Amino acid sequence: MKIPTKLTNELRQQLIHKAMEARKLAYAPYSNYPVGAALLTTSGKIYTGVNVENAAYPTGTCAERVAVFKAVSEGEREFIAIAVVTGNGGTPCGACRQVMAEFGLDLSVLIADGEGKLRQEATLADLLPGAFRPGDMRK
Ligand code: THU
Repeated sequence: MKIPTKLTNELRQQLIHKAMEARKLAYAPYSNYPVGAALLTTSGKIYTGVNVENAAYPTGTCAERVAVFKAVSEGEREFIAIAVVTGNGGTPCGACRQVMAEFGLDLSVLIADGEGKLRQEATLADLLPGAFRPGDMRK
């Protein structure tokens, strides 16, 4: 059963807190730019992610994608919001925007800095105009 969850300020704070906690587990020895993410699904669960780098640089991946892939691999498809925490309030990369867009453009993206300050809040539709989506595969 789908439990609709409204994005309240309390939830916003909870997501940012979880992303900050997750960020401590980031594996970023090459960039020294740890990132944490926390993704809220319509089932009410929160999936975290961190960036995981690799000595073969391009094989590393971003925190947002780890969170989305964890959620999808647990059967989740509907997402409400994602908090992304970086040291300087950096925004999600294009590849992560595309991965998130697969599951809906209404997603709220909360961008916070290392102190947990919300720097920006936008929908994915705002962050990725003209996204290539599943319907675009049809003739
Ligand atoms: N990174 C993320 O985890 N998410 C983003 O949206 C931007 C970049 C990671 C990738 C790499 O491990 C480090 O930050 C520097 O680019």
